[in-house]
Amino acid sequence: MLLRARKVIGFKEEADIHDITAIRRKVFGEEQGIDYQLDFDGLDERSTHIIDTALDEESGGFVSAGTVRFRHIEDHPSPYYVVKLERMAVLPQFRKGGVGKHMLEFYLACWPRLKRGNESLMILNAQVSAQRFYERLSFLAEGEIFQEAGIDHISMSRHLHF
Ligand SMILES: CC(C)(COP(=O)(O)OP(=O)(O)OC[C@H]1O[C@@H](n2cnc3c(N)ncnc32)[C@H](O)[C@@H]1OP(=O)(O)O)[C@@H](O)C(=O)NCCC(=O)NCCS
Repeated sequence: MLLRARKVIGFKEEADIHDITAIRRKVFGEEQGIDYQLDFDGLDERSTHIIDTALDEESGGFVSAGTVRFRHIEDHPSPYYVVKLERMAVLPQFRKGGVGKHMLEFYLACWPRLKRGNESLMILNAQVSAQRFYERLSFLAEGEIFQEAGIDHISMSRHLHF
């Protein structure tokens, strides 16, 4: 599958908002029954989003396939620069084609070279059904399973060295 990603800072451009909203409503809203207000929590404006598109062989154009957002956590107790990965969603017809992995790799490739240290920490709350996916992307699970939006989750993290 030929993929093309773009990075979007904030939630300003109509086309970006449209693509992100359509994917998340399909995956989190329709598929998982998560409430709109829980998904669109007001934090998209201060997040960096990745939108992935896949080449549609029939039309020859690129169509939206997945999205994820990253948010700097200022009050995290660890000494590292901490970024939280949230809202990872790939449309069903594009799953297991490398879209999720590509979005993380694309974000890491544009990672700003941080002045405050060479080590950073990426954290996330994984749906338990996606734990293996994140483990394949080098995240480690920690702590007990807990409920978020009525779904079992587990905390995971990955240290990033630059
Ligand atoms: C979880 C999700 C984002 C994965 O996206 P994806 O594009 O299918 O993942 P990729 O194709 O990039 O997979 C990368 C690797 O993880 C594996 N993988 C993907 N989903 C997996 C899963 N649910 N369980 C186990 N392994 C999985 C792939 O086989 C692949 O392995 P490989 O590197 O050995 O080939 C997607 O299934 C999804 O959107 N699910 C619904 C929403 C959701 O649960 N989001 C996570 C919220 S925490």
